[in-house]
Amino acid sequence: MGLKPEISELQEELTSWRRELHMHPELAFEEEKTSDFVAMKLEEFGLEVHRGLAHTGVVGILKSGNESGASIGLRADMDALPLAEETNLPYASRVEQKMHACGHDGHTTMLLGAAMHLSEHKNFDGTVYFIFQPAEESAGGGEVMVKEGLFDLFPMDAVYGMHNWPGMPVGEIAVRSGPVMAASDTFFVTVTGKGGHAAMPHLGIDTVVVSAQIVSALQTISSRIADPADPVVVSVTQIHGGDATNIIPEQVELAGTARSFSAATREMIEPMMRRIINGICQAHGASAEITYERGYPATINSDLETDHAAQAASRLLGPDNVRRDKGPSMGSEDFAYMLEKKPGSYIWLGAGEDRAQLHSPHYDFNDEILPIGVGYWSALVEDQLPKAS
Ligand code: NI
Repeated sequence: MGLKPEISELQEELTSWRRELHMHPELAFEEEKTSDFVAMKLEEFGLEVHRGLAHTGVVGILKSGNESGASIGLRADMDALPLAEETNLPYASRVEQKMHACGHDGHTTMLLGAAMHLSEHKNFDGTVYFIFQPAEESAGGGEVMVKEGLFDLFPMDAVYGMHNWPGMPVGEIAVRSGPVMAASDTFFVTVTGKGGHAAMPHLGIDTVVVSAQIVSALQTISSRIADPADPVVVSVTQIHGGDATNIIPEQVELAGTARSFSAATREMIEPMMRRIINGICQAHGASAEITYERGYPATINSDLETDHAAQAASRLLGPDNVRRDKGPSMGSEDFAYMLEKKPGSYIWLGAGEDRAQLHSPHYDFNDEILPIGVGYWSALVEDQLPKAS
């Protein structure tokens, strides 16, 4: 592996930062202590620090030489999940019902490590913006930072992100051009019929039967309506209705999520859903109230910057350990909002094959990959902002 010895040597220090963050997880827009920790470290490394974007967001600015005028943004997320940790590790969460179960503590640590390494060696020419964003999990902290002027305050040529990926071997990086994570929308449906005695269904309008047909029929959006080459997922994840075995409920509530990659497919989901639900309701004399909410857009990597990411990863890990063939994930990611405004690339960093999955109460960030993440960020900066020789 082409990991510099001075980065390998950071293993112990990085692990202690990561575990410190892990013990004190904070949820969306509450990352006060985490952002204090980040700002303190950045100042220690001699970076200019900007705070306050999206409330708890932090941006560290590192300049070197700057004859080129080139600039790059590197982004990490800082928030935890509302989940009780079940790892029993000595450094497990000290906060009830809060856990870094997605490894954002590791992402924050790796970006801090890169800031430390690059500030010591300054082996680049240009400006590096280290972006620490709040609220990735569901509240869209990345979108808020963009709206509050991230790219106006800090004009950068391109922006890069990464996520640790359990299931992929340590020492591998996956890089993909085009869509990598899906757009994520949510829907809520209330079906209203006519409640009554379960033994006399002819006198009522059965919302349970109508809802069952809706759940089945919504699956035709992906299997019969969308282009089979353009993935879409519609999952009904909640059904609430009824309190007794002998009563037909007046109302049933359904909710779920829709995932897609292309804008055209995403545009199609809501009207198709309305047509199917209203059509089934009409056939049975029921009615439906439908709320469809747009969430994160698809995360789409630009071609050139994805080649840059692959080049840095390849220099670090060797070309055989850089996967360009890994398919996209139907998960979603609010780095998408940054990629809507700037070219860039979001990569997956192998976290080990036999590790607990993201968002599991047994998830344990693999500290072994901390120096690899630092090495990748540093290689990317050195490649993209080369020092004049
Ligand atoms: Ni995550």
